[in-house]
Amino acid sequence: MRRLAQVFFPFLLYLGKIKAIATCDKECNFISNITETTSIQLPDNSTKWNATFQNGSNVHLSGNDSISGPHPGVQYLVYFKNGTKICCKYIFTKPSPVFDIKAENITTKTLDLKWENNDTNALNNTYRIHIDGPGHLRNITSSTTYVQIIQLDPGTLYRFEIYAQVGDNKTEGEPKGIEVYTKPSPVYDIKAESITTKTLELRWENNDTNAVNYTYRIHIDGPSHWHNITSNTTYVRVIQLDPGTLYRFEIYAQVGDNKTEGDPNGTDVYTKPSPVFDIKAENITTKTLDLKWENNDTNAVNYTYRIHIGGPGPLRNITSNTTYVRVIQLDPGTLYRFEIYAQVGDNKTEGDPKGTEVYTSKYIKLRDVMYITLLHKEII
Ligand SMILES: *[C@@H]1O[C@H](CO)[C@@H](O)[C@H](O)[C@H]1NC(C)=O
Ligand SMILES: *[C@@H]1O[C@H](CO)[C@@H](O)[C@H](O)[C@H]1NC(C)=O
Ligand SMILES: *[C@@H]1O[C@H](CO)[C@@H](O)[C@H](O)[C@H]1NC(C)=O
Ligand SMILES: *[C@@H]1O[C@H](CO)[C@@H](O)[C@H](O)[C@H]1NC(C)=O
Ligand SMILES: *[C@@H]1O[C@H](CO)[C@@H](O)[C@H](O)[C@H]1NC(C)=O
Ligand SMILES: *[C@@H]1O[C@H](CO)[C@@H](O)[C@H](O)[C@H]1NC(C)=O
Ligand SMILES: *[C@@H]1O[C@H](CO)[C@@H](O)[C@H](O)[C@H]1NC(C)=O
Ligand SMILES: *[C@@H]1O[C@H](CO)[C@@H](O)[C@H](O)[C@H]1NC(C)=O
Ligand SMILES: *[C@@H]1O[C@H](CO)[C@@H](O)[C@H](O)[C@H]1NC(C)=O
Ligand SMILES: *[C@@H]1O[C@H](CO)[C@@H](O)[C@H](O)[C@H]1NC(C)=O
Ligand SMILES: *[C@@H]1O[C@H](CO)[C@@H](O)[C@H](O)[C@H]1NC(C)=O
Ligand SMILES: *[C@@H]1O[C@H](CO)[C@@H](O)[C@H](O)[C@H]1NC(C)=O
Repeated sequence: MRRLAQVFFPFLLYLGKIKAIATCDKECNFISNITETTSIQLPDNSTKWNATFQNGSNVHLSGNDSISGPHPGVQYLVYFKNGTKICCKYIFTKPSPVFDIKAENITTKTLDLKWENNDTNALNNTYRIHIDGPGHLRNITSSTTYVQIIQLDPGTLYRFEIYAQVGDNKTEGEPKGIEVYTKPSPVYDIKAESITTKTLELRWENNDTNAVNYTYRIHIDGPSHWHNITSNTTYVRVIQLDPGTLYRFEIYAQVGDNKTEGDPNGTDVYTKPSPVFDIKAENITTKTLDLKWENNDTNAVNYTYRIHIGGPGPLRNITSNTTYVRVIQLDPGTLYRFEIYAQVGDNKTEGDPKGTEVYTSKYIKLRDVMYITLLHKEII
């Protein structure tokens, strides 16, 4: 045995040499039927393992630190001793488990996995990636330390187990794994409802299979106001807003303990302007009058106003960019109701109206007309 060991030892450094294989294969036929545990001794005596032979060819090393010593994932010429008989065989030690697994570029349907392996022979490794998710078991292989996984479902938890493999027969190391959620799909069909001067309700939809497990982050962005709120449902009531103000709401679906977030979808909404107050009718004549009012909202400078004129005859609306308007074409001695609505934004979000009722002046009395006529004559 000593003699053989000395003969074959140099070939360890040149693994895969034809000559060594030829010599050994002959010998190794001898043990092709062994299925029990047998001792293995490396020629340099550095390590001994117990080995179990299966199908006469696959050798799985076991025992104390069978992976790391002497070198993982490397082909060795191994000597077997049974009584006085000696033979040898080429086997691969198990590759080391991969480490530093990272999931990157995560989308709703794909992600990139990358990992490390420091084995001497790592360049020759292949990798089997076992993908485990709801309704989704499959293996893919990669000859590099990265792979793109496709055809995933959004917002779903997947477990990826990576096995390093070496040799033609793909001797596999112990797996290392990672659990990753894909991104939830963006929400859609966002609606702002029940809008008041200070509150509103947002509703949205999400169709993902796993949506029942989603939470949502709503990012609120306004002139003096940006913060996040969260919701466990596809609904949230937003409070403490300012009247007549534009807010942007961005909604992010989140899943898992680490709150993997999808891409946001958003909506822009104006709160209602406050009602006007202190309405005054001035310079009332038989046919015209001036209306004035106040609005204290911070954003009032951007408001327009719709004045709804109700009286005998057709209803009509006029608009004004200021807190003042001259109303014309009225009938004398008639009661009119003016309702004033503050409006803001391109879509003219209207506040609640405030109104006033005013009589126009009656015809000028005949006596006054004569007096004016006399006065006129005197001047002439
Ligand atoms: C191995 O097993 C086969 C069938 O099981 C048998 O024919 C053969 O003789 C065995 N070889 C040795 C070396 O025992
Ligand atoms: C291996 O060990 C045996 C006995 O334990 C010894 O006879 C032999 O010389 C050793 N071989 C090497 C290469 O050191
Ligand atoms: C081989 O296995 C036997 C029985 O399990 C055990 O007693 C022995 O220590 C093992 N040898 C090595 C080198 O692991
Ligand atoms: C070991 O050798 C003995 C006798 O030569 C033989 O009966 C036995 O089957 C062999 N064991 C193995 C595992 O080959
Ligand atoms: C992620 O995407 C970037 C840009 O396409 C690419 O450079 C990087 O290699 C990707 N990451 C992985 C692990 O493939
Ligand atoms: C892998 O190799 C790098 C560089 O040689 C080293 O810094 C790192 O500690 C090694 N990692 C492991 C797990 O062996
Ligand atoms: C990879 O395998 C080839 C033959 O398949 C061999 O020549 C080469 O030395 C191996 N590389 C390493 C790093 O072991
Ligand atoms: C993945 O590969 C392993 C090992 O080859 C096998 O046992 C398993 O059944 C495969 N799983 C699927 C879903 O193909
Ligand atoms: C791979 O396994 C087959 C049978 O399972 C065996 O015939 C072949 O010799 C093995 N190849 C290597 C390189 O071990
Ligand atoms: C959501 O589901 C409905 C009905 O199943 C479908 O019509 C609609 O296209 C889906 N929307 C999205 C964005 O997937
Ligand atoms: C929601 O999560 C729980 C565990 O957190 C899981 O058991 C359940 O299957 C998930 N629901 C869906 C629809 O995936
Ligand atoms: C809202 O949440 C996001 C993500 O957690 C964070 O980056 C951002 O700073 C938060 N904004 C505010 C105003 O708290």
